[in-house]
Amino acid sequence: MLIGQEVLRIMDLEKSFGQRVVLKKLTLTVRQGEVLVVVGPSGCGKSTLLRCLNGLEPVNGGQIVFGGQYLTDPQTNWSQIRQRVGMVFQNYELCPHLTALENVLLGPVKVQKRKKTEAMAKAEHWLTRVDLWDRRDSYPRQLSGGQKQRVAIVRALAMDPEIMLFDEVTASLDPEMVREVLDVILNLAKEGLTMIVVTHEMAFARAVADRIIFMDDGRIVEDSAPEAFFRAPATERARRFLNVFHYDDIHAPNPAKAEPSKDANATKAEPSKDANAKAEPSKDAAKDAAEGLGPAKGGGAP
Ligand SMILES: Nc1ncnc2c1ncn2[C@@H]1O[C@H](COP(=O)(O)OP(=O)(O)OP(=O)(O)O)[C@@H](O)[C@H]1O
Ligand SMILES: [Mg+2]
Repeated sequence: MLIGQEVLRIMDLEKSFGQRVVLKKLTLTVRQGEVLVVVGPSGCGKSTLLRCLNGLEPVNGGQIVFGGQYLTDPQTNWSQIRQRVGMVFQNYELCPHLTALENVLLGPVKVQKRKKTEAMAKAEHWLTRVDLWDRRDSYPRQLSGGQKQRVAIVRALAMDPEIMLFDEVTASLDPEMVREVLDVILNLAKEGLTMIVVTHEMAFARAVADRIIFMDDGRIVEDSAPEAFFRAPATERARRFLNVFHYDDIHAPNPAKAEPSKDANATKAEPSKDANAKAEPSKDAAKDAAEGLGPAKGGGAP
């Protein structure tokens, strides 16, 4: 894929909640067409980082430059920026009283004041692309978790964002629906959309990423090509992190076996097993969800 000019630059970004420092002088550049996948243990600051990029959290220090504009300037017009920085969360947060199509049209028509015909053409294009044009008149309660999440992605894309931020968008989905949502994101990546993806799906991370950003305790610990990261992570911390996935995968009875060793590194370089296991359909759950009973695992906490 062709990587273009710089879209986003984060310099020495700091964020605290009270006394707790959550982002510790984080520095990162994203170029046009690049897909950055951010991985790391729970609580390391991944969601906070994305939320700072979208103005959902005020920052305590450092700079964020997006398209040449300093977002850390207090004058930043966030409602304008959010039209250019699309974000999709774990909980799709569609408007319940609007149909899928109306949800998608809301941003372009009401916020961006685009012509209805133009917005409609774009909505049709994207909803068709995610295989939901025939469900355009359904209300969110009539859609499965995976379908709702695909509508949420289309709703963000309909604004023509310059970058998309995805925060664990499959975390509350039934395994079969995880696949359909990840496929949508993978196709967007292939088309050259710039994105930052936070995910715990390691096989997907490997497949979609141009770069893997591994975070721990508010810092970027590794910034590497996916093959290098998964085959031979540079740090002990990343090795331990990846071993957890391997450990979960094989249900090793003895945690001591999950301790990093050369052998363990060699084996865990096969995260695709993990994904295949997760992609196995749980038919009943998927069927229930498709019939409007909602995702099998519920909404989950943000
Ligand atoms: N609004 C908040 N107020 C106080 N502390 C917060 C708030 N939001 C996040 N934190 C804390 O900031 C740290 C980073 O949280 P964050 O949600 O960014 O982690 P994460 O890497 O996204 O984790 P996960 O993988 O579980 O989603 C955690 O210690 C969390 O408890
Ligand atoms: Mg998070």
